[in-house]
Amino acid sequence: MSFQTTYLRDFPEHIAIIMDGNGRWAKARHRPRVFGHQKGVETVRHVVEQAAEIGVRCLTLYSFSTENWSRPKAEIAALFNLLKKYVESDLESLHARDVRVRILGSRVGLKPDLLELIERVETTTQGNTKFSLNIAFNYGGRDEILRAAAKAAKAGEDFATMSDADFGRYLDTADLPEVDLVVRTSGECRISNFLLWQAAYAEFYFTDVLWPDFTIDDLSAAIEEFRARDRRFGNLSTPEVA
Ligand code: IPE
Ligand code: IPE
Ligand code: MG
Repeated sequence: MSFQTTYLRDFPEHIAIIMDGNGRWAKARHRPRVFGHQKGVETVRHVVEQAAEIGVRCLTLYSFSTENWSRPKAEIAALFNLLKKYVESDLESLHARDVRVRILGSRVGLKPDLLELIERVETTTQGNTKFSLNIAFNYGGRDEILRAAAKAAKAGEDFATMSDADFGRYLDTADLPEVDLVVRTSGECRISNFLLWQAAYAEFYFTDVLWPDFTIDDLSAAIEEFRARDRRFGNLSTPEVA
């Protein structure tokens, strides 16, 4: 990348990606779906490494949805295994690169060894500040809102007077910046229960590229398009600032 994006105007603070198309990528190669998921992890590795270089500071990746429990048991097991392997093998290098890792989503249905690993990666990296990597795993937007409401109720919050910023502090994304840009690969144009609350004013970018083929240049293209959009937030167009 030849440009130093850190200084660019209108750069998205928080990018979220629906990593879709692993199965179709594998099918096109007459390989099992799991082969596509394996390749998808390599894409995650490259994108996370290179995103920091182009100025991204906060990235959220959708890797297993609450609806994905309806897939065949063997595929679910493979996806769980891949998450574990990725976190185990990359923890040290992510930590060395000052990456803070959070795992968003419900802990219900996760086995003790995975819970222990999640705890370990979050604790080890909690002081890191250069880059924020959030993996949405066993995540559903509606489930997150319900869990947040339950936490808020337990804390004695009064919903009648609560602001949306107050409520946001009970979400899995508490402390993270607003989601500015949601990218979805593989040509599907839906949100699939991802960041329903947080994406309220996000810009959406859809690309036909399948996740295993996605590169940092595709991410740069999404960012460039984002920067050219006129975000009005219900207001009128703002005049260009000199
Ligand atoms: C995305 O790829 C990964 C997950 C949803 C876990 P898919 O597995 O959905 O791939 P397609 O959409 O069937 O091609
Ligand atoms: C969304 O992809 C979930 C993840 C990328 C983890 P899906 O492939 O599961 O979504 P649908 O079925 O196309 O809505
Ligand atoms: Mg899919």
